[in-house]
Amino acid sequence: MKTLTNKNVILGVSGSIAAYKAPDIVRRLQDLGAEVRVVLTQSGSQFVTELSLQVTSKNKVHHNLWDKEAELSMGHIELAKWADAILIAPASANTIANLALGKANDLLSSVVLANDCPLLIAPAMNQQMYRADSVQENLNTLIRQQATIIQPESGEQACGDIGEGRLAESVDIAQQVSMLFQSTKLSGKKVLITLGATIEAIDPVRFLSNHSSGKMGSALSDACIEAGAQVTLIHGNIGINLNPKATAISAMSAEQMYQAVMSNIAGQDIFIACAAVSDYCIKNVEKNKIKKLNENLILELTPTKDILKKVCQLTQKPICIGFAAETQNLTENAKNKLKNKGCDAIILNDVSKPDFGFKSDKNEVLFLTTKNSQKIEKNSKQKIARKIIDVLTEKFL
Ligand SMILES: Cc1cc2nc3c(=O)[nH]c(=O)nc-3n(C[C@H](O)[C@H](O)[C@H](O)COP(=O)(O)O)c2cc1C
Repeated sequence: MKTLTNKNVILGVSGSIAAYKAPDIVRRLQDLGAEVRVVLTQSGSQFVTELSLQVTSKNKVHHNLWDKEAELSMGHIELAKWADAILIAPASANTIANLALGKANDLLSSVVLANDCPLLIAPAMNQQMYRADSVQENLNTLIRQQATIIQPESGEQACGDIGEGRLAESVDIAQQVSMLFQSTKLSGKKVLITLGATIEAIDPVRFLSNHSSGKMGSALSDACIEAGAQVTLIHGNIGINLNPKATAISAMSAEQMYQAVMSNIAGQDIFIACAAVSDYCIKNVEKNKIKKLNENLILELTPTKDILKKVCQLTQKPICIGFAAETQNLTENAKNKLKNKGCDAIILNDVSKPDFGFKSDKNEVLFLTTKNSQKIEKNSKQKIARKIIDVLTEKFL
C-alpha cells in the first residue's frame, strides 16, 4: 500500500508563474496513491489551463466560489470536508497574505478556512518578494497556526533573478504531504479489531446474518496502521479488501469469532469490537436442507457468547472499545452497553439512517466514555476512523 492510499488531497493552485508545474504535482501525489482535486484561483488560471489539471487529476477543477450548481449542496464546505490535507502549490504572495489574514474572498481561501485538516504551503515567487518582511511575517503567522511551509529552493528564477523563491521540486512536495500521515501515535502498539457480519447457519444452505459490510472496521485498521500499530483483524463476512499490512483471520460464526479473539487477545494493547456479531444462533443446526412445508416453521435461537464482555473480564485486559449500532434510544442504549460490558468506551452509530452507517461509505458517531462524550461529525469512514484513533490515543494512551 502506498503512503497516500485512501488520502484525499486538495491542491490549491494560485497565480505564480510556477503554476505550470501543478499538473506534475498532481501526478506525483497520485504516484503515492492520493486522490487529488484541484482548486484553481483566477490568477492561477492565467498560468495553467483548467483542462490540463482536469485531465491529470481526473476530476473536475474547482475555481468559482459562486458556482450555483456546486453551492446547491454548499460545495465549498463539502469540498473542505472531503479533504484529508490541503496543499497550496504554488502559493503566491497574495494567497499567502489572504490565508494569514483569514480572508475568505475566493474559493481557495474559503475551503482552507472551512477545514481543520493539515495545510501545506509551497511558496513560489521572485526572490525579492519572498524576502519581503510582509511575506515572511505572513508565513510565520501561518506556521503559528500549524501550517507546514515547504521551503522554496534557491537558483535562477523565471524573471532572471537568482535567489530563494523557486517552487520546491514536485516529488519533494508530494513527499512532504505523505510525511503528514506517518504518525507514530500507536507505534509499538498491538491492536486487535473484529469486523464484518457474523453468519449463523440454519441448515447447509441458509443462514442468519446482518448488513454490516466491514467498511468501518477496515477504515479503523488503516488508521491504526497509519499510526504505526501492528494490527490483527478477525473478520466475519465482508465485501471489501483488507489492508495487506494487517494479519487477517477469518471467523464466520459468533462462536468462531469468540474462539479467534480469545486465541489472539494475549499481548494486545487495544481491542476494538467493530464486528456486528449475532446475539443469537440456531440451537440445532439442521444437517440437511430444510424442506418447504405448508405449515409454520419455528427456529429455536440460543444466545451467543458476548465477546466484548469476555475480553473486558480478562485479568490482563487491553483498552476495550465497543461499537453500538442502535436504531432507537441511542445514547441511553449505548450508556447501558458501556456499563454492562465494562469497556473503556463505546462508539455509538445510528444505523436507522439510510445515508450513513451500515454498508455506506460515511458515518457519524459519538465516542462515549463513563466521563464524557464526543461527537464525531458525519464524514467518510476513513476520516471518522482517524478521528476515533486521535480521541482514543488522547483519552487512554
Ligand atoms: C507574469 C506574472 C508572473 C507572476 N508570478 C508570480 C509569482 O511567481 N509569485 C507570486 O507570488 N506572484 C506572482 N505574480 C502576481 C500574482 O499573479 C498576483 O499577485 C495575483 O493577484 C495572485 O492571485 P492569487 O493569489 O489569487 O492567485 C505574477 C504576475 C504576473 C503577471
